[in-house]
Amino acid sequence: MTMPAAAATEIAEVLARRLESPVSTGEPLARFTTFGLGGCADIFVNVASLSDLKTLRETAWEAGVPVTPLGDGSNCLISDLGVRGIVIKLSGEFLVFTIQDCEVDSGAGVGLSRLVAETARAGLAGLEVVYGVPGSVGGSVYMNAGTRYGWTSDTLIDAVSVRPDGREEVLSKDDLEMSYRHTRLQDMNPAPIVARARFHLRKEDPSQIKARIAQMAKARQASQPLQNRSCGCMFTNPEGDSAGRVIDACGLKGLSVGDVRVSEKHANFFVTGNSARASDVRALARKVQEAVRKQAGIDLNLEVKLLGEWPDE
Ligand code: EPU
Repeated sequence: MTMPAAAATEIAEVLARRLESPVSTGEPLARFTTFGLGGCADIFVNVASLSDLKTLRETAWEAGVPVTPLGDGSNCLISDLGVRGIVIKLSGEFLVFTIQDCEVDSGAGVGLSRLVAETARAGLAGLEVVYGVPGSVGGSVYMNAGTRYGWTSDTLIDAVSVRPDGREEVLSKDDLEMSYRHTRLQDMNPAPIVARARFHLRKEDPSQIKARIAQMAKARQASQPLQNRSCGCMFTNPEGDSAGRVIDACGLKGLSVGDVRVSEKHANFFVTGNSARASDVRALARKVQEAVRKQAGIDLNLEVKLLGEWPDE
């Protein structure tokens, strides 16, 4: 199912008139995701400026059309049926960051790995705790992305966001109510879209920061299936435990649905083959959740965000 073609065309035409950013219809989204799965967006916009983001949101709000930001497509599962309404990716001015003393002001579209590398090179420590987490700065704020070494909330000062009605709003760290893999943005529907974020870092010898990054890279290489297509960890860790350890202890490594299976290297990763479908990933997640509930009495929650149409949710 898609938006009626006439309605999608009409809104796409209004957006094309009002925005400088390119607008398309029926855009396949799989190539924008780390899983490489999912259907099409009714309307797709590569938003290149804050002013376009505001106009886009205002236009969508007035027309009652949902807007879904894609980030780096790394922590999401897009339905095979695609995403209704407008899907956006941030480009242009959202891919720029500046460093002044210990403060970094970054566009939400900047890749975390790039920002970690550049701040380390500049002798600024703090962001390297999220080294290796795939995703964009906007996604890391939305998810409060992190590793066992620390979280995005450790260094975030505030974020510029664009509300559903198109108005700009600065959200402080307190406003965001950040906890493990969670912010208030995840409870809001529709939520403000993060456009920029400011971080406060501390000065340190670049060689020391780089040494820590090298250590993290080695550990990650040894424990995670980085050579396969995945979307990082599928489930959040239950309090005081690790979802990977629990799934492994339940003997579920190698369990599969279609061309998707629980990684033998790290059980909280699902890895995919060429004929995988998003519905297989969802079905495997349910199977794992049911088995873990039955065998270990633990409820695993999806870390991965389901985007688009999921009729059974
Ligand atoms: N373990 C197993 N079997 C497995 C996987 C893990 O027994 O198949 C055990 C490990 O031996 C270890 C424990 O579980 O004793 C924890 O494993 P790991 O060190 O890999 O950490 P994790 O809790 O599974 C978390 C984050 C990762 C992050 C790593 C490293 C979550 C859900 N995951 O994983 O983040 O990379 O720490 O800091 O919080 C992600 O969010 O996408 C992600 C991969």
